[in-house]
Amino acid sequence: MINPEQFRFFSTLVKESSGIALTKGKEYLLESRLNELARVLGMKDINELYKKAKFNPTPKLKEQIIEAMTTNETYFFRDQHPFEALKSNIIPELIEARKSKKQLKFWSAACSTGQEPYSIAIILEEHFPNIKTWRREIIASDISQQAIDKGKDGRFTQVEVNRGLPIQLLIKYFKQQGAFWMIDPKLKKMIRFKKLNLMGPLIGINNIDVIMCRYVLIYFDQDTKKAILNKLVKVLNPGGYLFLGATETPVGLPTNMKRRTFGRATCWQKT
Ligand SMILES: C[S@@+](CC[C@H](N)C(=O)[O-])C[C@H]1O[C@@H](n2cnc3c(N)ncnc32)[C@H](O)[C@@H]1O
Repeated sequence: MINPEQFRFFSTLVKESSGIALTKGKEYLLESRLNELARVLGMKDINELYKKAKFNPTPKLKEQIIEAMTTNETYFFRDQHPFEALKSNIIPELIEARKSKKQLKFWSAACSTGQEPYSIAIILEEHFPNIKTWRREIIASDISQQAIDKGKDGRFTQVEVNRGLPIQLLIKYFKQQGAFWMIDPKLKKMIRFKKLNLMGPLIGINNIDVIMCRYVLIYFDQDTKKAILNKLVKVLNPGGYLFLGATETPVGLPTNMKRRTFGRATCWQKT
């Protein structure tokens, strides 16, 4: 059983490095995830992990602890409505607005294993052949290197492709290889995966037209959320859009962001 000092130590480490706030009541979650990590690392239990992390830490171990505490739940076209809004309203509007620059930039800011950025890529490929010659860029970033590596691989299990992906899109954009489904290389080429911690500087991220930052701010406290929202808005082009998760409130969003609704999707547009 994890003791209060161990809980304080690990939750501080995770909060300071990733923003993820493990408040009281999350002892069980922390304990079960870190016991599993200890097992994978060949340690006896969480006590041994605690001693190593406290008295003999390495950057790698710190990273592994944070990875263990991330929740990577995701699926294709999650919640549907945001993707419907992209297809029917937002991308057509942005194409008109950017027609002289011929450039559209998307950023999936906590992309997990890639289902979100691949959903954007499928929409572009499927519905907007008229901008094939444009500079279409999808940046996909996450704090978890494991998640990024899996996204880059573009290799999904049957269970993963069964979640959210219509069968006709599965057949069109994936190839079955043994027990896995490999995504079409041309979709892979549209996405630039990179490891990025939203708590740090947003290196290489600028002039974005659409940011999807969904189901990650829920893990942060109010101050961290506010600081991150401010950073996100700074890298957004005027007229650009921000999507949060359906259950997430934009507390602390700068006043230059106006709420917009498209069908059942809600997002915020930079004025
Ligand atoms: C629940 S998933 C959401 C994935 C996707 N956006 C979706 O809506 O399906 C949350 C992701 O946030 C990532 N994450 C947590 N803290 C982060 C941070 N400080 N910077 C970047 N990503 C972070 C996790 O690794 C995880 O992959």
